Amino acid sequence: MTAGSPPTTDAAELRVGDRTLSLPVVRGTEGDDALDISRLRAESGLITLDPGFGNTGAATSAITFLDGEAGVLRYRGYPIEQLAEHSTFLEVAYLLVYGDLPTQEQLNSFVTEVTHHTLIREEMRNFFDSFPTDAHPMAVLASGVVGMSTFYPDSQNIFDADAVEVTINRLIAKVPTLAAWSFKKAVGQPYVYPRNDLGYAPNLLHMMFAVPSEDYEVDPAVAEALDLLLILHADHEQNASTSTVRLVGSTHANLYASISAGISALWGPLHGGANEAVINTLEQIVADGGNLQKWVDKAKDPNDSFRLAGFGHRVYKNFDPRATIIKRAADRVLAATGADDDLFEVAQRLEEVALNDEYFVGRKLYPNVDFYSGLIYRAIGFPKNMYTNCFAIGRLPGWIAQWKEMMSSPETKIGRPRQVYVGTGSRDYVAIEQR
Ligand code: CMC
Repeated sequence: MTAGSPPTTDAAELRVGDRTLSLPVVRGTEGDDALDISRLRAESGLITLDPGFGNTGAATSAITFLDGEAGVLRYRGYPIEQLAEHSTFLEVAYLLVYGDLPTQEQLNSFVTEVTHHTLIREEMRNFFDSFPTDAHPMAVLASGVVGMSTFYPDSQNIFDADAVEVTINRLIAKVPTLAAWSFKKAVGQPYVYPRNDLGYAPNLLHMMFAVPSEDYEVDPAVAEALDLLLILHADHEQNASTSTVRLVGSTHANLYASISAGISALWGPLHGGANEAVINTLEQIVADGGNLQKWVDKAKDPNDSFRLAGFGHRVYKNFDPRATIIKRAADRVLAATGADDDLFEVAQRLEEVALNDEYFVGRKLYPNVDFYSGLIYRAIGFPKNMYTNCFAIGRLPGWIAQWKEMMSSPETKIGRPRQVYVGTGSRDYVAIEQR
C-alpha cells in the first residue's frame, strides 16, 4: 500500500434508530484498521465522542508504525533497534523527512546543508538577553523558534517546495543553537557559536558546555549517547505534540509557528516534560529517606494527584522499546562519564518495586522513554530544565515529516473537532442591576 491512498474495503454496519448506516473500513499495512466515520454526521446527525482521542485516528500516515501491545516501533519500516545500532541522527532525520534512507551523496548534501545553517541571526542575541535569567529553556526555545519566522519571511510560502526545504534545513540546523543559548543565558555564560567542523551531537555539546576561556573536548562516548537519544526521540506518530504541529499546520500557519506550538505541547510533564519530572521525583525520594514503597503507594492513592513520572503510556501496554535501549545506554554513559550513579540505582530499584506491584502490573504501567533518558542527560551534565529541550531537538524531524505529509495529503482539511454541548439552553440577557 502506498502512502496517502489507504485501501477501503468492506464496511461495518451501524444501526441508528431504524436506519442502517454503512461505515467503510480503512485498512492499515499492519492490521491497524479503522472505521471511516467522516460521513457519519451528514448521514445520521450524530458525531463521535472520544475525550483524549484514545480511539480516534486523525490521519493516515506512512511515517511511523508502533504496536503498543508488542512493543514495536519502526520509522518508515525500519525497526528502532536497527536504527539505534547502525544509524545516525541526521540520517534518521533524512529518513523521516524524505521517506527513505539516503544514498551517501544525498546524506552528504543534507549534512552540508544542515551544517551551514547553524548560525542564528545576530539580532537574536538581544532576544535571549531580554528574558529573565531563570526563564525555563522550553519557553525560550518555543519563543525562539516562532521568532525565527520574523527573519525568514519566505517561510510563509508553505506551498513552495524550495522555500519549505530551506525552512526544514534551517530548523534542524538552528534549533540546537537556540536550545544551547537558552541554557547559556540561564547560567550567565557567553553564548558559544556553532562549529561547522563538528557533527550534530558534538556541536550541541560544544555550544552547551564550552566556554571561551578554556579548551573543550567533546567526549565521543557522550556524543554517541546523545545521538542515540535523539534517534530514539525522533518520531512517535500522533502523540500530543505531533498532533499539535499537525493541527496548527492545518490552518496553513508556517512551519516555525507549527513547530513552536509542538514544543509548547511537549513541555508538559505528562509528555516530554516527564524526563525532568522523573529526576525531580528520584531526588525527592532520596531526600525523603529512600522509602520506595511509600512513593509507589502515593502514586497508587486515588486521593493523591502524584503519579510516578516515567511510568505508563497511552499506547505501550507491554514495554516501551525505547526505554529498553535507553536503559542499556545509561549503563554505558555512566561508565564513560564516571558520573555518580546513585539515582540510577534508585531508578532501577523503583522500577523493580513498581513492576512487582499489582496496581502497576494490572494497569500495564511500564517504564517509558522518559524514565531513563533523564539519567543520561544528567550524566552528560545537562541541567534538569534542559532535558525536554533535548527531547525537542530529537523530535524535530518527526514533527517536520508529519507536517510535510499532512501538507501534501489530499485528505487534509483544517483540523476542527466538534463537541457535545452540555451547557445551559437559550436564555434572555439580564441587565446587570437585575442579576
Ligand atoms: N503512576 C500512577 N498511576 C498511573 C500512572 C503513573 N505514572 N500512569 C497511569 N496511571 C494509572 C491511572 O491513574 C489510571 O488508573 P485508574 O484506571 O485506576 O484510573 C490507569 O493507570 C490508566 O492511566 P490513564 O491516565 O488513563 O492513561 P493515559 O493513557 O490517559 O495516560 C500517561 C498516559 C503517560 C499520561 C500516564 O501514564 C502518565 O501520567 N504517566 C506519567 C507521565 C509520563 O511518564 N509521561 C511520559 C509519557 S512517554 C513520553 C512522552 O509521551 O513524551
